[in-house]
Amino acid sequence: MPDDQNDARNGARSQGFATRLTQLGRPGPRAHGFVNQPLVRGSTVLHPNLAHQRSQSALRHEQALVYGTHGTPTHFALENAIAEIEGGTRCQIVSSGLSAITTPLLAFLKTGQHVLVPDNVYGPTRRFCDGMLAGLGIATTYYDPMISADGLEALMRPETAVLFLESPGSHTFEVQDVPALSAVAHAHGARVMIDNTWGIHFFQPFSHGVDISIQAATKYIGGHSDIILGAVTVATDEDWVRLRDASMALGQYASPDDCWLALRGVRTLGVRLATQMEHGLVVARWLAERPEVLRVLHPALPGSPGHELWQRDFTGASSLFGVVLKPEFTVEAVAAMIDGMTLFGIGASWGGFESLVLPSTGSIHRTAGSGRFGGEIMRLHIGLEDPADIMADLERGFACLAGAAGG
Ligand SMILES: Cc1ncc(COP(=O)(O)O)c(C=O)c1O
Repeated sequence: MPDDQNDARNGARSQGFATRLTQLGRPGPRAHGFVNQPLVRGSTVLHPNLAHQRSQSALRHEQALVYGTHGTPTHFALENAIAEIEGGTRCQIVSSGLSAITTPLLAFLKTGQHVLVPDNVYGPTRRFCDGMLAGLGIATTYYDPMISADGLEALMRPETAVLFLESPGSHTFEVQDVPALSAVAHAHGARVMIDNTWGIHFFQPFSHGVDISIQAATKYIGGHSDIILGAVTVATDEDWVRLRDASMALGQYASPDDCWLALRGVRTLGVRLATQMEHGLVVARWLAERPEVLRVLHPALPGSPGHELWQRDFTGASSLFGVVLKPEFTVEAVAAMIDGMTLFGIGASWGGFESLVLPSTGSIHRTAGSGRFGGEIMRLHIGLEDPADIMADLERGFACLAGAAGG
């Protein structure tokens, strides 16, 4: 067991979030007094004798030092920090955000069972369900993310083992009624999993009925667009054993260097999120007034799908949202707008310090009828730049949009 001063189970939750971010996963005396957790790389762990090696190996569900794939003190420190940020008890770090989705799905589903997945789920999650899970004889039903409890009840089958949630969902940002949907799943004995990457600490999944929470730590936790990492957090020992066994069976592993960088990200997570929320809202409200814009899909803005649920269940907002342009603007005109912007980067991912833009066309694949918003959608990630510069860049883009539309 590493000697963290503050792990997820040492009861420091009475402190404020900003304070805890400065304390989580910090080292004890073994770091020789240095402030930060040392970076421990390694495969082999040497033991003083065979009895010690055997006793440590028996602790596969604990933070024991057995072999590199079981984790190093660097992994454990990050796991404890994320478990606490999510409000759970134990966390497993895995190689990517996508692995943090596929690992629990494989852990909690078996052949003949059924999973319910929101229609707006992150594209690679859908591909995994339609490909790997279908190949294993596990059926997926996609549902409208704004489904009511009664609507979900009608989709439950005796073999439904997992209700998957992503709230707000990819590209169209619908906020789901997590407590109501979780109650239906639990009444049928199904586990509830959520991709909580957007919600991060603004949404506390375990106080809203969720059993297993997923973070693409690549995004806001890493915060600097330089690592790929995932985290799966649970609240009960039973779920932990199942998750840990699956993760070990799959050989899940993440580089300790990336874990160390993620721990560094944790220290500034609070200030980055607060600033990015503020900048994101300034830009989103400004966009909502633009004549070219039909609507802004930002959970904190009235009229965005599930805004009332966001008000009820969230304490803040991330800086990733969608902009629906008026129907006269074609895919080509939107491409001209994006190409005309110079501050926004064109690229996948989000949660870093820099602003990014992508068209959502081609990324929205729906089969349950959701996702029609009346025009082309752009996804914006607002970074730490000055909002005035961000809006000036969008102005440049709007000029190109008008030019391409012949206006
Ligand atoms: C909502 C969501 N979940 C998960 C992921 C996957 O994260 P990673 O890129 O670390 O695999 C992404 C990546 O864009 C995402 O947007």
